Amino acid sequence: MSILYNESKKTFSLHTFRTTYQLKIGNLNYVNHLYYGSTIHDEDLSFLIRRYDRGFSGNPYDSLKERTFSLDAQPQEFTTQQQGDFRINSIEVQNADGSFSFDGRYVSHTVYKGPFTLNGLPTAFARETDTVDTLEIVLEDAVTKVRVTLLYSVFEEADVIMRAVRVHNGGDGEIKLKRIMSFNMDYMNGKNLDLISLPGRYGQERQVERQPLTHHVHKVRSGRGISSHQQNPFIALVERNANEEYGECYGFALMYSGSFLAEVELDQYDQARLVMGINDRLFSYPVAPGEDFDTPAVLMTYSHKGLGGMSRKYHNFIRNNLNKSKFVRDVKRPVLINTWEAAFFTFDDVKLVEIAKAAKGMGVEMVVMDDGWFGKRDDDNSGLGDWYVNEKKIKCGLTELVRQINDLGMKFGIWFEPEMVSEDSDLYRAHPDWVMEIPGRHAVRSRNQLVLDVGRKEVQDYLIESINRILDSANIYYVKWDDNRAITDLWSNSLPAERQGEVSHRYVLGLYRVMDGIIKTHPNIMFEGCAGGGGRFDTAMLTYFVQYWSSDNTKPLDNLKLHYGSSFLYPTCTMGAHVSNASPMVPLETKAAIAMCGTFGYELDATKLKKKEIQACKRMSNLYHKYYDLNFFGDYYRLVNPFEQVNLVAWESVAKDRSEALVTVITVNLTMNGPQEYIKCRGLEPNRLYTIEGDGEKYTASGMALMHAGIPVPREVPDFTAFIYHLKAIG
Ligand code: DGJ
Repeated sequence: MSILYNESKKTFSLHTFRTTYQLKIGNLNYVNHLYYGSTIHDEDLSFLIRRYDRGFSGNPYDSLKERTFSLDAQPQEFTTQQQGDFRINSIEVQNADGSFSFDGRYVSHTVYKGPFTLNGLPTAFARETDTVDTLEIVLEDAVTKVRVTLLYSVFEEADVIMRAVRVHNGGDGEIKLKRIMSFNMDYMNGKNLDLISLPGRYGQERQVERQPLTHHVHKVRSGRGISSHQQNPFIALVERNANEEYGECYGFALMYSGSFLAEVELDQYDQARLVMGINDRLFSYPVAPGEDFDTPAVLMTYSHKGLGGMSRKYHNFIRNNLNKSKFVRDVKRPVLINTWEAAFFTFDDVKLVEIAKAAKGMGVEMVVMDDGWFGKRDDDNSGLGDWYVNEKKIKCGLTELVRQINDLGMKFGIWFEPEMVSEDSDLYRAHPDWVMEIPGRHAVRSRNQLVLDVGRKEVQDYLIESINRILDSANIYYVKWDDNRAITDLWSNSLPAERQGEVSHRYVLGLYRVMDGIIKTHPNIMFEGCAGGGGRFDTAMLTYFVQYWSSDNTKPLDNLKLHYGSSFLYPTCTMGAHVSNASPMVPLETKAAIAMCGTFGYELDATKLKKKEIQACKRMSNLYHKYYDLNFFGDYYRLVNPFEQVNLVAWESVAKDRSEALVTVITVNLTMNGPQEYIKCRGLEPNRLYTIEGDGEKYTASGMALMHAGIPVPREVPDFTAFIYHLKAIG
C-alpha cells in the first residue's frame, strides 16, 4: 500500500518508488501540507512548521486568541476562503446566503485500490502491472455544509500523483463556484524556485520560458476556450540551479483542454503557493443541493535528477497510463502522407490515387485526405458541419476511393473538424441557434467559421451520428481531428441567463462526450489530434489521441525548438512531425531526421518529387521503421538546447535496457575552421562497450567515454547536415 495513515500523528504519507508526499490533519482540523520530494520514512514532518505571531495575518476564531496560528502563514493542502489567508486561493464559492466564504476542515478520509475517475472528465488509468492507490480526504464547512473532497491517486512505479477535487453541496440552497482549482501546492521555501512554462503562438508552439519566482502572482493561462498555442497547461517549478541532469524539479500537467489557469505566488515569508485548474474568468458554476462538481485532474511528478529526470517520468506515464488505444504501444503506426500542404482544397479522387501511387515508392503506408472532401468545401468559407462526401471531388464515392487506395497496399485516413460550422453550410441554415453567439450581437468570425455550442446534447448527438456514419462507411484507418479557431461569444441558447457562466466548461465536457462517442467506439481507428497545429496539445487530449499534430510550422529548424519545448512533457511518439517542402535549403535527410523526433510522415505532393528524392524518402521511411522502438519507447535526453546560441543541436533516445541508443545531431552553424565539437551522451551503461556508427566511421567506446568525453562530430560539412548515430552495446 503506497498510502500510509499514521493514526496517532494524523499524517498521511503517499509513497511512490522514489518520492514521498506528506500531509497532516493539523491544528483545528485544518489539513497542512508538509512535504513533497525524495523518499523519506513515515516520520511526522510537522516539526518543519514554526509558528510566530505574524502581524496583520489573522487567526481563526476558535484558535482562542492564539496569535501564532494563522492560515496566512502556514502551508495548506487546500485553501479556505475569507478565513484570514490572503494568498491566492483554490476555492471561491458564493454560498446560498450570498456570502463568500469556505472554512473546510477535515471530517473523514478513505483509501482504496486503483485510480479515481471523474464525472465527464478524462483521467489516467492503471495497467495490470501498476500499483495504484487512492486517498480521498473530505473537508467540510460546518456552517454551509459545502464539502470539498481532495483526491490523490498514487501511481507508485511511475512516481506520479494524480490529483483533483470534488465539491459537494451538502446544504439546502444552491451555491455558485466562482473558482475551483484542481489542487493547491504550498512550498515552505519558494525563494529559490524558478517557474518554467511553455508559451508560444500559432506556428511556434511550446517554446520554453524560465523565470525566478518573485513576490507577486505569476499567471500562466489560456482564456481562449482551448488549452491554446499561447500557453500549454503545464508548468514546472524547479530549483534555481536545476539543469537537465541535476536539481529538484516539480512538474504539473493539467488534464484539461479548455481555458485554464495556473497561478504561483511567492508570499511575504518566501513561501510559494501554486494553484492550477479551470480558468475562473467568465466562469460561474452553480451546484444544486445534493450535487457534485468535479475539477479536471492534474498529474504531478517530482525528480531530483533535473529537467531530464522529470520529463522522462512524464514520457513513461503518458505512454503507459493515458490512452488505451492499441496504437499507443501494440500496433506500429504507419508512415503517412498528408494532402494538406500538397493540394490544400484542390484535389479529387484521381489526384489522391496519384499521390498514393507516387508515395508508395517513398515507403509511405497511409494516405491522409485532409480538409476539403465534404459538403461544399472548396475554400475555408463554407462547408464545415456538413459531414457528407462532396461527390464533385470524390466522384467515385468514399468507399470506392478507400478501396482503390487499399488495393495499392496502403491505408486510408480522413480529416474532420467537428466543433465548427460555416455560415454557408446546410447545418447552419438548419440550426443557426446551434452556434455560440451572444443575443443581439454577431459572433466573432475566425478563419471564417463559427463555433458550435458543443455543450448542447443535440449538437453532440448530431456530431457523433454524422461522423460515425462516415467512419463506418469505408475502411478508414486513421482520423485527424482538427480545430481551427479559439472560442469567443460564450453563450448557449439552451441555458437561462443566470447559467451562462457554465458555457465554457460545458463546452469542454461536451467535447469529451463527443470524443467518447466517436473515438472510444472505434478502437480500430488511429486518431490524431490537431488544432491549427498544436493549439490543444494537452494530456487530456492524449487520453483520446495517440498523437497530436505539433504545429503547422513544418520548417525543420523551427521544429528543433518546438520538439525541444514539447519534450518537457510529451514523448516523441505523441508529437506529429512531417517532412515538407518548407525550407528548401535543408536537405531531405535532415528534414527526415528532425521529423523522426516525432511521429514521422510526409506533407508534400509526392507526384512532384524527383526519382532521387523518392529514393531518399524511402531510405528515411525505412530508417523510421528500423528505429521505431528506440525512438518511440526509449528514454529521451535533450543534449543541446536550441534556444541557446549553438553550432549544433542534438538529442538522444536510449533503449530501456541500455543496449542501444540513437543520437541525432543537426549542424546549424559550424563556423569555418572552428573548434572540434563533441556531443556527450547520457543514460548509457558506463562499463559497457558500444559500437558507434553514423558519420561514415565505425568505432568502439565505453559508455563512460561516450558520456564523459563524447562523440566527435565531423566539422567540414555543410550547415544543416544530420548525423544519426546508432550506438549498439557489444555482448
Ligand atoms: C490546420 C491543420 O493544422 C492543418 O494541418 C490542416 O489540417 C488545416 N487545418 C486544414 O484546414
